[in-house]
Amino acid sequence: SITRRSYHEKVLDHYSKPRNVGSMLKTDADVGTGLVGAPACGDVMKLQIRVDPNNNTISDVKFKTFGCGSAIASSSYLTELVRGMTLEQAGSIKNTEIAQELCLPPVKLHCSMLAEDAIKSAISNYYSKNPHAKPTNLAGT
Ligand code: FES
Ligand code: FES
Repeated sequence: SITRRSYHEKVLDHYSKPRNVGSMLKTDADVGTGLVGAPACGDVMKLQIRVDPNNNTISDVKFKTFGCGSAIASSSYLTELVRGMTLEQAGSIKNTEIAQELCLPPVKLHCSMLAEDAIKSAISNYYSKNPHAKPTNLAGT
């Protein structure tokens, strides 16, 4: 029996029924907003997270992607993946994990990179609004 769905099915499923499309109030203190673009094609992705300050986990997530089907599918899949994760877990997701799950071809790798960039950007926006939440052992920005 077929236990693994094919590349087209997974991409098309997320593309035709994207999960968690929408937006949150950017000014809410517990919301982090990431807005990134892909230089290769000009596609744009907005991804927002709501963080539970008690345990630094993502309680809600929304996205809007003005881009290709693979970018929409990548962001839709990412929103399902990061819900419930800590910021550190979500921040360490690699685009290759997304590309592998959706079986994106090499030419579509940058579409999944957009999703990785978007969650990283949302997390860093949250940290800039809530500096106390930032782990002290986190290097860089
Ligand atoms: Fe088949 Fe993109 S979903 S080529
Ligand atoms: Fe550029 Fe998919 S995000 S082609």
